[in-house]
Amino acid sequence: MSDKTNHVLSCIQPTGEMHLGNYFGAVSNWVKLQDEYDCIYGIVDYHAMTMPYDPKELRSNSKQLIVDLMACGLHPDKSIIFLQSLVPEHAELCWIFNCVTSIGDLKRMTQFKDKSGQIESGSSTNFVSGGLFTYPVLQAADILIYRADKVPIGQDQKQHLELSREIARNFNRQFGDYFPEPKPLFTPSLKIKSTADPTKKMSKSLGSKHFITLFEEENSIRKKIKSAVTDTGEPSEEMSPGLTNLFELLKACGKDDDVTSLRNDYDAGQLRYVNLKGAVADALVELTGRLRTEREQLMQDLPLVWKQIRIGSEAAREIARETLREVRNLVGLPKR
Ligand code: TYM
Repeated sequence: MSDKTNHVLSCIQPTGEMHLGNYFGAVSNWVKLQDEYDCIYGIVDYHAMTMPYDPKELRSNSKQLIVDLMACGLHPDKSIIFLQSLVPEHAELCWIFNCVTSIGDLKRMTQFKDKSGQIESGSSTNFVSGGLFTYPVLQAADILIYRADKVPIGQDQKQHLELSREIARNFNRQFGDYFPEPKPLFTPSLKIKSTADPTKKMSKSLGSKHFITLFEEENSIRKKIKSAVTDTGEPSEEMSPGLTNLFELLKACGKDDDVTSLRNDYDAGQLRYVNLKGAVADALVELTGRLRTEREQLMQDLPLVWKQIRIGSEAAREIARETLREVRNLVGLPKR
């Protein structure tokens, strides 16, 4: 095994603006890891083609997401930041992995069941693509093409990561010990919930009241937090999912003192929800305001951002090419 392991790798889909779940569940961790590891981060536009989409929006969403990730603190001098479709080797490795992945494993993926269900119930075409079905195989290729062994993700991606490990094992069993088994790195905020329905994870697919974006206007943030579901009024021993989520958000914003004092109020049975909501809204407005300023600065020099992404994608491609050269040899394909 060569020494190209011990990489951190993670990716995000360009499906419009990032929300708080993406940020607290994954991206904030990516930023920190840059100082400790060799990190590679991808904007996975091939993945975004698995659900119905508009080609013009895909291109502009990809570009905007790159800027937004940099506004959050990803830095091309510290990490390799690439656009997936500029590294087409991902698709080739995905094909090879398709041949060591069982259909039974793919059928168990809950995200496939959820998303195909959404298409079948919501669209006029009813068209569920093979791409959506084999999506987790491409995800395994994204990780393993860099021989990455640490993957910072939110809890919702846990099952996909387990499949990546299974694919690595299947490959190694058949062709020799080559790929490491990647492990997830979770943040303390495992799963940020929708404030409108705290029994569900924050996600774009549920509609606009179920997510708060990182660049959302102050009024809209305050409105969503003000109307956040707290509890159903039923007496309960445990803190309700709505309150838990609000505390979780406050903690994720780094407001430990507020968390402690409001938590004391809660324990004493004296928590006023308006105070908790006010503290959460203030913390989010502070965070998003800071990120908006960063974003505006980056937008002043977009040609530089694109140049950096081309350079990052070329650096990623060099590693990917080398892996494919070795993999093609192992699986019996000719030299190019
Ligand atoms: P995506 O684009 O949906 O989300 C990007 C990251 O955000 C995390 N996340 C959340 N974390 C906590 N609470 C939430 N409510 C929440 N919503 C999203 C996700 O876990 C993810 O880490 N399949 C992946 C993209 C992908 C990938 C990869 C990830 C493609 N290839 C290789 C890691 C490695 C996805 O759709 O993430």
